[in-house]
Amino acid sequence: MRLAAAAALVLMAINGASAENLDAGKPAPRLFADSCASCHRSPRGLAKGRFRLTLYLFLQQHYTSSSDSASALSTYLQSVDTPAGGRPARTARSISRAERPPRPPLPVRGR
Ligand code: HEC
Repeated sequence: MRLAAAAALVLMAINGASAENLDAGKPAPRLFADSCASCHRSPRGLAKGRFRLTLYLFLQQHYTSSSDSASALSTYLQSVDTPAGGRPARTARSISRAERPPRPPLPVRGR
């Protein structure tokens, strides 16, 4: 695989810019505006607290033409995921777990 990629690179270099990756070198917010904003209004809330690697693999598999842009985008989505300076919002489950009153024990049957 690596050899094929290297060969492809050499061929591209020889042929000039004919097979150029149009996304190369764009900053992530620009990438988002160009390729994602038509469907996703805002980059916020897309990462949903996922690990960067999970995001990266998702983006690479579903959308982006190069691993560089997938990488840049996953970092970007993560950086805008939570509001600036804020802690992640408490989820409904974490609230109910902590604050729910203790349940009464089950009735004991058969006595
Ligand atoms: C043609 C429309 C379209 C484009 C363009 C598009 N997406 Fe999506 N994307 C979707 C749809 C539809 C879903 C599924 C939504 C869902 O499951 O809530 C999705 C899901 C996602 C998810 C998972 C969100 C979740 O709630 O699990 C991420 C992350 C994401 N897109 C990022 C991107 C990025 C980054 C780009 C640009 C490279 C992009 N998308 C471009 C339509 C699009």
